[in-house]
Amino acid sequence: MPLARSLSITSLSGLEEWDEEFDLEDAVLFEIAWEVANKVGGIYTVIQTKARLTAEEWGENYFLVGPYVESNVRTQVELIEPTNPALKRAIDKMNSSGCKVYFGRWLIEGSPYVVLIDVAFTAWNLDKWKKELWDNFSIGVPWFDREANDAVLFGFLTAWLLGEYAAQCEEPPHILAHFHEWLAGLGLALCRQRQLPVATIFTTHATLLGRYLCAGSVDFYNNLADFNVDKEAGDRQIYHRYCLERTAARCAHVFTTVSQITAVEAEHLLKRKPDIITPNGLNVKKFSAMHEFQNLHAQSKNRIQEFIRGHFYGHLDFNLDKCLFLFIAGRYEFSNKGADIFLEALARLNYLLRVSCVCACPALCVCVCVHVYQKMCVRLESIQTPQLFPHFVSGQLPDVSKMLSKDDFTMMKRAIFATQRQCQPPICTHNMLEDSNDPILTCIRRIGLFNSSADRVKVIFHPEFLSSTSPLLPMDYEEFVRGCHLGVFPSYYEPWGYTPAECTVMGIPSISTNLSGFGCFMEEHIADPSAYGIYILDRRYRGVDESCNQLTSYLFQFCQQSRRARIIQRNRTERLSDLLDWRYLGRYYISARHMALAKAFPDTYFYQPHDSDTAQGFRYPRPASVPPSPSLSRHSSPRQSEAEEDDDRYDEDAEAEKDRLNIRQPLTLPSKKGPALPYTLPGANGEK
Ligand code: UDP
Ligand code: G6P
Ligand code: GLC
Repeated sequence: MPLARSLSITSLSGLEEWDEEFDLEDAVLFEIAWEVANKVGGIYTVIQTKARLTAEEWGENYFLVGPYVESNVRTQVELIEPTNPALKRAIDKMNSSGCKVYFGRWLIEGSPYVVLIDVAFTAWNLDKWKKELWDNFSIGVPWFDREANDAVLFGFLTAWLLGEYAAQCEEPPHILAHFHEWLAGLGLALCRQRQLPVATIFTTHATLLGRYLCAGSVDFYNNLADFNVDKEAGDRQIYHRYCLERTAARCAHVFTTVSQITAVEAEHLLKRKPDIITPNGLNVKKFSAMHEFQNLHAQSKNRIQEFIRGHFYGHLDFNLDKCLFLFIAGRYEFSNKGADIFLEALARLNYLLRVSCVCACPALCVCVCVHVYQKMCVRLESIQTPQLFPHFVSGQLPDVSKMLSKDDFTMMKRAIFATQRQCQPPICTHNMLEDSNDPILTCIRRIGLFNSSADRVKVIFHPEFLSSTSPLLPMDYEEFVRGCHLGVFPSYYEPWGYTPAECTVMGIPSISTNLSGFGCFMEEHIADPSAYGIYILDRRYRGVDESCNQLTSYLFQFCQQSRRARIIQRNRTERLSDLLDWRYLGRYYISARHMALAKAFPDTYFYQPHDSDTAQGFRYPRPASVPPSPSLSRHSSPRQSEAEEDDDRYDEDAEAEKDRLNIRQPLTLPSKKGPALPYTLPGANGEK
């Protein structure tokens, strides 16, 4: 008896309800990515945050497939016996043929099943598989490219797994396999070449060539149609990777990408127009109390202040309570992520204001900066002076003159002298391996932001992903974001950009660009994004210098806001989170899956394309109770006294209610019947 499953997505404040009836029969979904239980960047966030919704839809028939990385498995995965009998037989068969394949539950929301493959264990097959790759696809992978070698092993092993699973099923199975990014793409091509009964989807989260071209000095967006792709890939020594990516895109039953801007890029560089756009969502947590996320901001900000106090020890000549924390974070792609223009804009802002600014980008580092440790040790010692303890116990105040011996006093003096700083407060929290070549440090040297007391802008570079176990800044990335005032992500190349999206759902305003998938998505769905704390920098129609000026002016205006205006703005920003919730955005993945099943198994599945004309596109109107932009906010909220500014107990709820009513009324909702597909690109060629 086939299992009938259908999905109903409940209404999210103001966004439409959506019921989808699609009988999945006995289909089984495998979602395959190198970042399954293996954090590298945003693809991990896609898979990890989407798992709950997908597991709700597919239940026991949903399996994520990724690489086995022991350190990750130890902390994130519970290894168990495979639950599905056919899959168990397939895994046993592979393991008895010289592979190491593990099965478990990934301990994240939704607890999805994971199949993890140890690619290194099967490396003895590499040469044989590379020959097969050459014979069947004419793609030659050089021996020295470790990542591409992993892609070959992972590709052959995943195709083996799917083929073995199909062979172990008693009835002809309906397998749906969703592959993410070029590293997983070869498995897809092999499924097609071996004619396995598998419906395939390929999602690209960026194009390899796009990323490389943008990182150079190429005018990318004005020349998209004219690149000689083979030559460009060859010049950058990524021709083999490019071929793997393009093969996957061309072979897939359904090809998708994360934004309109990357769809156009893919059409030119991978020579296939995506069939549907699958924007990235998040798992939005709603707090029961409206002010809870504001309280979290205040708590996390205190911890950042504590860190800043330590970092600027001996130089704290500014009022921390009046300090704003701006940050950029992510993988270290200096110009693609816009760190270049952010630093340049900070230098310009330096003459206008004093703010504190923290950069968190991972790079090579050797150990924690000596300055910082020395300072912290001394502070702890002085707080924990053992002579004080008996007095705490007895409750008697000590005789101060007897507390320190002469020697103690001398040691104390030495400690104080040792912590006196003759130099400027450091920029970087770590000692860098390639200090003189590091792009961020080089840029900081060039623009002269050295944290001198005259500098209005202070800079701290933390060249490592944040972690609550760090002795230096013991905060998770999420906690850190909550404590900041503004995330600045002026990317030049950014197919989506999770970092500003994550700021939004935490109620932290951000700056993104009209060259990022996120920025374009927000521009399309919000009438006045800046009123909601979503600043979108124009990097498409302006030169670098002009964009940099625009960024400086955003920063300057932001810094002029009163505390009260910032609190109102954070409330507004947070209210956009429904728009980024997988419960709303997950529908595009669902459509892609139905499309693929219908293409691969036309006798069993039928996919009715939804009329894209009905897609009015959801649009948040301008909020009623403004401030529409930081500069105007000053007109609408008369200048307060400092005490008033600091009082956040103004009638915030009334403001919030006004906004909410305004959001609910003038909406043009897309049709309730089926998902609105504003992202379906007409005329998709559906190459096979
Ligand atoms: N991130 C993190 N720790 C950090 C900085 C970033 O975990 O210190 C995460 C961030 O939460 C986001 C991801 O890294 O989910 C970056 O994704 P994005 O889409 O912005 O960029 P990508 O790296 O994929 O190009
Ligand atoms: C939150 C807290 C307030 C605090 C405010 C600081 O709203 O609930 O108690 O005063 O943050 O805002 P600021 O933008 O100055 O960090
Ligand atoms: C890529 C892109 C990033 C996107 C992420 C998830 O790594 O660089 O912009 O957010 O994938 O789709």
